[in-house]
Amino acid sequence: MADYENGTPATTSYQDAREQLQQRQYRWVVTGAAGFIGSNLLQTLLELGQCVAGVDNFLTGYHHNLDQVRDAVGSEAWRRFELIEGDIRDMATCTQACDRADFVLHQAALGSVTRSLREPLLCNDINIGGWLNVLEAARLAGVRRIVYAASSASYGDHPALPKQEAHVGRALSPYALTKYVNELYADVYARCYGTETIGLRYFNVFGPRQDPSGAYAAVIPQWIAAMIGRRRLVINGDGESSRDFCYVANAVQANLLAALTDRKDAVNQVYNVALNSRTSLNELYLMLHGLLVERYPHLRDFQPEYGEFRAGDVRHSQADIAKARELLGYMPTHDLRRGLRQALRWYVHYLGG
Ligand SMILES: NC(=O)c1ccc[n+]([C@@H]2O[C@H](COP(=O)([O-])OP(=O)(O)OC[C@H]3O[C@@H](n4cnc5c(N)ncnc54)[C@H](O)[C@@H]3O)[C@@H](O)[C@H]2O)c1
Repeated sequence: MADYENGTPATTSYQDAREQLQQRQYRWVVTGAAGFIGSNLLQTLLELGQCVAGVDNFLTGYHHNLDQVRDAVGSEAWRRFELIEGDIRDMATCTQACDRADFVLHQAALGSVTRSLREPLLCNDINIGGWLNVLEAARLAGVRRIVYAASSASYGDHPALPKQEAHVGRALSPYALTKYVNELYADVYARCYGTETIGLRYFNVFGPRQDPSGAYAAVIPQWIAAMIGRRRLVINGDGESSRDFCYVANAVQANLLAALTDRKDAVNQVYNVALNSRTSLNELYLMLHGLLVERYPHLRDFQPEYGEFRAGDVRHSQADIAKARELLGYMPTHDLRRGLRQALRWYVHYLGG
């Protein structure tokens, strides 16, 4: 797909990548397939005619996420999916999943900063030990490439904005450390074994199937659930902390581009995945409120509360996405407002009202 004739390799556009998949069937492993991002990857791959083995231990993922994918893609496509209910901390599970695989999209992890502060050992075991199992199983199985979920948390206390891939600070939580160690292991595997990996540093991904329940819910689903369900909505700190919120379709795009790129210089790299746009929590609240108030009149008098700043959180976050654009051909299709509209359709349907 790359055009090296003029000395400058061309990037694969997302449209090209999708067409390529429609013409050729590969075998994919998605770890964390019953989770939020994993189930969105699974759905897109099945829609594009691919075969997928999904690994999940349902620690934070759900059978109902898989049921929704099955309902969306239909029974014929669903036959191309194999669920391996198991734990990435178990090498035999990883070996079984990687057998005859072309690509691995690694999403399984303990994904919460707050939970990592409460359970640092579990976070280490899953996010580092589990990753090493996936990496090693994929290497031994001879998979073509492993694309893995890295994180904007790796920027830690580095003050520069927008964040550029080369400049990371000190980790602010066990979670952040584990995600950075993922990158270090990928780098070592590239150097020692020639393993092809690409790390995607996601920034605050949101969209359908992101869990709205529990103490570790992310801000967007938590607030939507609070507003629809007439519950307290607490903004951490003064609400002026900001994030680069990224709709899940953009993250799916980055995964497929990373798996399929022919550019040698694009491989064994990490990339920011977001919009290069910054929205404060106060602005996010106003957007969500504005989108929901017409449907839910009780929100006219709704007021958020303000709480403590959350431990382990960075104050501002914004991605420079030039590297992903140039080397992977990444072009986000959804800005925050478009993404929120799509996500809200799903939450309104599933949370009632
Ligand atoms: N959502 C975000 O904003 C965001 C931001 C940065 C990075 N990430 C990373 O993206 C990945 C996916 O995140 P998500 O938001 O979809 O989270 P999620 O919790 O919805 O999905 C993670 C999935 O992994 C599974 N899992 C956890 N431990 C496992 C184990 N030991 N063995 C097998 N399966 C296991 C869970 O059951 C779940 O289905 C994670 O690696 C996370 O760290 C997410």
